[in-house]
Amino acid sequence: MTRIPFIGGNWKMNLTPTAAVAFVQKIQPKLPPRSAVETVIAASPLFLTSMQAVQGDGPVQIAAENCFYRDEGAYTGEVSPKALRELAIPYVIVGHSERRKYFNETDDIINKKVQAVFKNQMTPILCCDETMGRFENGDRVSWAVGQVTAALRGVSATDASKLIIAYEPSWAIGTGHSAPSQEAEDGCYLIRQTVADLYSDEVADQTRILYGGSVTDENIKDLMAEPNIDGVLAGKASVNPAEFLKLANFET
Ligand code: G3P
Repeated sequence: MTRIPFIGGNWKMNLTPTAAVAFVQKIQPKLPPRSAVETVIAASPLFLTSMQAVQGDGPVQIAAENCFYRDEGAYTGEVSPKALRELAIPYVIVGHSERRKYFNETDDIINKKVQAVFKNQMTPILCCDETMGRFENGDRVSWAVGQVTAALRGVSATDASKLIIAYEPSWAIGTGHSAPSQEAEDGCYLIRQTVADLYSDEVADQTRILYGGSVTDENIKDLMAEPNIDGVLAGKASVNPAEFLKLANFET
C-alpha cells in the first residue's frame, strides 16, 4: 500500500501569534501539493485560529499539540477536543514524551486522549518514547508492545487504520543526534508489527508511522527511504520556515 509521506512539525512552546501567521504565509506557496506530501504544523492553541485565517486553500494543515480527554467541564486551562473539532483541526498530537516527562501523563491518560480525539472525528498523532535505558538493554520489543497496546485499548480497527504513530526515542529529541536510519526503521517496524498483532496486517499497513528526534534536511532522505517510515515529526527544524520547507520538499 502506498502511504502519502507525512512531514509534521511540532512547534512545542515556541513562536508568537505574529510569527505563526507570518510562517504560514511564507511556506504556503512553496509547499508540495497535498496529494504528493502531507505537511502539518502542530502549534499552540493560542495560534490556531489566526493561522487558519491565513491558511487559505494552501497545502499546510494546522494541528494541535495536545488536548484533554473530556469535551467540557471544570478542567482549568485544558484544551477541549470538542472545541478543536469545531475549529476543524484534523490532527492532535497525543502522548508526546514531554507530556509524559513534565506533566506525568500515564498510558491510561494517553489512551483516554486517543479515544477522545477519535470520538471528535480527528486523528491522533500518537507519540511513543523510548529511553536510552530501554534502547541500550535491548528490550525494545516489550517497550513497543507495551506503549502501543496501552494507547490503543478500546480503539476500533477502523480508527486504528487511520492512526498516525510517531516513534520518538527520547534520547534523540532535541539532542541534534538523530537515530541512524536503520535504527529508526527498526523502531517503526516494531510498532507496525505491534499494530498487526493487535489488529491485522491490513490495519498495520494503513497506519502511518513517523520518526521524530533531531530530524533535519541532512538526514530526512535516508529516513524516508526506509520501508516502515512514512514521515517525520520535527521539532527544532520545524520552527524556521526555510528549514521546514527543506523537509517538506525532501523529494526534490
Ligand atoms: O515531536 C517532535 C519532537 O519531539 C522532535 O524534536 O527538536 O528533536 O526535532 P527535535
